[in-house]
Formats: sequence, structure tokens, C-alpha cells
Amino acid sequence: MKLPHLEDLPDPSGRRVLVRCDFNVPLSTGPDGSRVIEDDLRIRSAVPTLRWLLDHGAAVTACSHLGRPKGAPGPTSDLAPVRARLDELVPGVTLLDNLRWNPGEEKNDPAFVDQLVAGRDLYVDDAFGAAHRAHASIVGPPARVPSAAGRLLAREVEVLSGLLEAPAHPFVAILGGSKVSDKLGVIRSLLEKVDTLLIGGGMCFTFLAALGNTVGDSLVEPDQIANCGELLRSGAAIVVPTDLTVLGPGGVIGDPSAGGDVRQVGASVPDGWKGLDIGPGSAAEFADLIADARTVLWNGPMGVFEDPRFEAGTRTVAEAVAECRGFTVVGGGDSAAAAARFGVADRIDHVSTGGGASLELIELGDLPGLEALRASAAHFGLATR
Ligand code: 3PG
Ligand code: MG
Repeated sequence: MKLPHLEDLPDPSGRRVLVRCDFNVPLSTGPDGSRVIEDDLRIRSAVPTLRWLLDHGAAVTACSHLGRPKGAPGPTSDLAPVRARLDELVPGVTLLDNLRWNPGEEKNDPAFVDQLVAGRDLYVDDAFGAAHRAHASIVGPPARVPSAAGRLLAREVEVLSGLLEAPAHPFVAILGGSKVSDKLGVIRSLLEKVDTLLIGGGMCFTFLAALGNTVGDSLVEPDQIANCGELLRSGAAIVVPTDLTVLGPGGVIGDPSAGGDVRQVGASVPDGWKGLDIGPGSAAEFADLIADARTVLWNGPMGVFEDPRFEAGTRTVAEAVAECRGFTVVGGGDSAAAAARFGVADRIDHVSTGGGASLELIELGDLPGLEALRASAAHFGLATR
């Protein structure tokens, strides 16, 4: 897919450039009550674009959303920790307040777009993780000022659309996460491309139910059982777990001291028990299939890996992806966090900064943020590459 790049903009020297970033990073609260960035990948990934613009003499203002504050300022959605990290990595960039503090952002209000582009000559979109949102800061500025894709956005699109155009086979995709309803579209698209589709995470229980298994108290979407059954019948490529790690009555996720037995069972979960990870047999089977792949795409954890009792499936998959000799891509969000947690991120060819965005790009082949950049290039006569 062709997009205008930084080099295609008018000379940025002496110009004021607005850069949309996705600095929606995971934050936790430190022992002293301060907010701590858990993973700064999204900030580090924006540095090449910001540095290029500064090196070319631009006055650079970055902007981002953080969390879902619903149009009102709040302490947990304040970008202050991000601003501090950005100052360390690339001093000299101004960062606006959280875009979602303004109700006009999510509504794509033209008055908010006016505010964002006022006094600015150029716009760069480097917010791949938010490129699936038709929000003011993403689709608005490209219609008003000459606009281009930043380095991160361009690389993400190149890798993810390249992956689907001519993947080396065998192509193995691994999908997890809690909701199958969010992923039906991407499953259908992937089934046209992959040789094997491994399903784990909370969403596997709706598939297991469709195969006639009991699911106990596991996550399940009853209204999706028929859809999952249809996918299983149509897609010989789908592999679901044959064993599970389950938590017994009284157990609490994330709190081993609360009690509750942890057991390995087959594909059926007993009454009152909850499936929270794929079992060791399935993890080994998934790892074998990943080892032989020449292309791997992984999106979504295999279980509740934040709880050490249920991390094994996700860890085994993460290590298998890291060891695979083929081209390996990890979709953003939870699976990127898992890759970081298990120390394998630097052995993966591409760790995407976009979870929802990468799935939507795979499913639909385009995103609102990318369409806006192409329209901007056509309107302002910029080259694309
Ligand atoms: C994300 O983390 O998914 C992106 O930053 C987009 O955020 P959103 O899902 O709240 O729109
Ligand atoms: Mg999201």
C-alpha cells in the first residue's frame, strides 16, 4: 500500500509540525503512589520520526490519547509520565494534553480539528495503534495540511500488509484473547491465507463448546457458538486445545492465597471450574506447529498470563515464536506485553505497536488513518511510495 512518507512532505525546516503518536502505554501505580510506565515500546518506537523532524529543522508538537477518559480531564489519564519519558528520549518535543480530554476527539468534531491544526504547517501520523479510529486527530488534519506517515506507521503497514500478500508457507497464526466476537472477521480473513490457525485464550471455550465440550464457569459467548461451529466445519486449518489448566471453586484469578485447586483436564471443564490456560499437551502441540512455520502471526495470550499459575501456555507459545526460524510477527496489546514479560521481544522479527489496529488491517486491508493520508497526498500533490 502506497503512502506519503516524511521525505514526500514539503521541506520541514522552520515549519511547525503536528505529530500524532500513540502513547497509550500501560501504566501502574508505584509504591509511592506515582504512575509508572510498564512498557515504553510505543514511546521508543516514535523516536525515529520525531528525531528526523527535529534534525530537519522542524518545530515539533506531539499529541496522543491515553486511556478512555470520556472527554474529561482526570489524573489517571494525564500524560505527565509519558512527557517525562519523551523528554529523556528526545528532548525538544512539545506534547499536548491527552486528546481524549476533549469530547471533540472521539466525535471527530471539525472544531477540534481546527484547534489542532491552528498555527501548524504539516502533519505526520505515527500513531499506528490508533489508525483504526476515525477520530479528529487522525482523520482531520490530513484534509487541512500536507500530511505523511511517520517511520513507525510506514513500517507497521509494510510488514502487516506484506505478510498477507506473499507469506512463506507454512503460515501459522495463533489467536487468543477473551472475545471471539471481536475476532470473527479476522479469523475468516486469516483462514484464506494460513495453513494452520491455533486458537487459545478465553475465546477457545466458545469453540470447545461448539465441539460439544462442557465449559464450566469459563468465559464463553453463547451467541457465538453457532458461528464457531461453522468456522470449525469450514476451516480444516483450525486447531483448538485438547487439554486445559483450570481453577477450582473458590479460586481467585491473580490471588493464589485465596485458595482453589489448579488442575489439568482434557477439553471439557467440570462444573464450577474455570479454564484459564491451555494445558501442557496443547502448548507442546502448538509449539511444534510453530517450530515448522516459515511465517508466524501471533495475536492474543493463551491464558491469564498475569497470574503465574496460568502463564505456562502463553510462555511456551512466546518462546516457540522467538525460536522459530521463519518470519515472526506479534500483534500489539496483550501479546506484545507477554513477549516483553517473557523476555523474547527482541527475538521476534516485528512486534506491532497496534493490537486492534493490526487485526483490523489484516481483516479489512485498510484503516481510516491510512485512507486519510492517501487522500491528503492526492489533495496536496505529494508523492507516495
Ligand atoms: C490501543 O491501545 O488499543 C490504542 O491506543 C487505541 O486505543 P483505544 O482502543 O482506546 O481506541
Ligand atoms: Mg484498543
